[in-house]
Amino acid sequence: MKEPSLILAFESSCDDTSVAIVDTHYRVLVNLSSAQPQHAAYGGVLPELASRLHINNILPLTHNALQQSGISPSEIDAVAVAINPGLIGSLVVGLAFAKSWAWARGLPLITVNHLLSHIFANFITDPSIKPPFMALVVSGGHTELIWFKTMLDFEIVGKTVDDAAGEIFDKAAKAMGLGFPGGPIIDQLAKSGNPDFIQFPRGLNRKGNYNFSYSGTKTAIINHIRTLSPSDLQAQLPDLAASIQQAIIDPLIKKTVTWARQNQIGDILLAGGVAANSALRQQLTEAADKYKIKVHFPGLELCMDNASMVAAAAIPKYLAGQFSPLDVNAFSLKGTRFL
Ligand code: KG4
Ligand code: ZN
Repeated sequence: MKEPSLILAFESSCDDTSVAIVDTHYRVLVNLSSAQPQHAAYGGVLPELASRLHINNILPLTHNALQQSGISPSEIDAVAVAINPGLIGSLVVGLAFAKSWAWARGLPLITVNHLLSHIFANFITDPSIKPPFMALVVSGGHTELIWFKTMLDFEIVGKTVDDAAGEIFDKAAKAMGLGFPGGPIIDQLAKSGNPDFIQFPRGLNRKGNYNFSYSGTKTAIINHIRTLSPSDLQAQLPDLAASIQQAIIDPLIKKTVTWARQNQIGDILLAGGVAANSALRQQLTEAADKYKIKVHFPGLELCMDNASMVAAAAIPKYLAGQFSPLDVNAFSLKGTRFL
């Protein structure tokens, strides 16, 4: 096997600064992240503060990554960075730093989409996955079903026409007076509840339609919660959580497996915060297994924003020689339209 090349990758799209060195066989030599607890005082990520903290963090983190891995800068073969979507001020810090590296050492620069990087984290867990495959990206802001024909050529075959799956977990939890984010709380409560307690409507439940719609489901959930007295709500919490969770994950499972089956796709890759949902992982795996389709999800430590997934998404581009010019810019556009 050819000697692997080394990719130095940067991730700074939101409030985590991360630096990784990954070889082109998807082996992670080092992956370091620095969180920004300073935002907690403001109840959300403060974009201006995030950019400034990235500036503070990125150089020491890179020093540590080189030191811990024992790699010298002269051994690095390419530099990778996520350039969209994200907070623009944060993205430009990683990009400017990556550009400086590439320019100073005469290395190719590879730019990638942050969301697609989440999908490619699956290759770190299992480098043997081969295209074609389906990817289901489910987070607080995105619900997309993507068909990868090759590692570099993909088509979005379905997406939400209104709310994202994660948003419904969060809004339902809020309406029930539970905390934020709602997904993990509902996941936990649902374990002791009955998913058939209430049949909330499933959006776009039509044959041949691979888009998702959650606004009707959301309205029905919130209207139902409003009819309950505090004591009834308390008594129904596990059953409600299980019914809400089932209404959210049913369309995800059904549409993903149907599309994969009809198009003879053997692998489904899960990504995004909702990919942590235990019922989704289990039921999607069981539904796909009936058709000998394998479901993959990254290790939990790789589900968070990190630079090793950026490197993983850069590997196919590196192998294909798809490099970016040094005047490339970052952009905050939502979605996965560009790799
Ligand atoms: O990808 P992510 O960490 O961030 C963005 O949306 O950018 O996803 C966060 C979403 C939240 O809506 C959260 O409620 C959901 O992922 N989530 C879950 C679980 N863990 C996180 N949803 C369902 N079950 C979970 N175990
Ligand atoms: Zn992310």
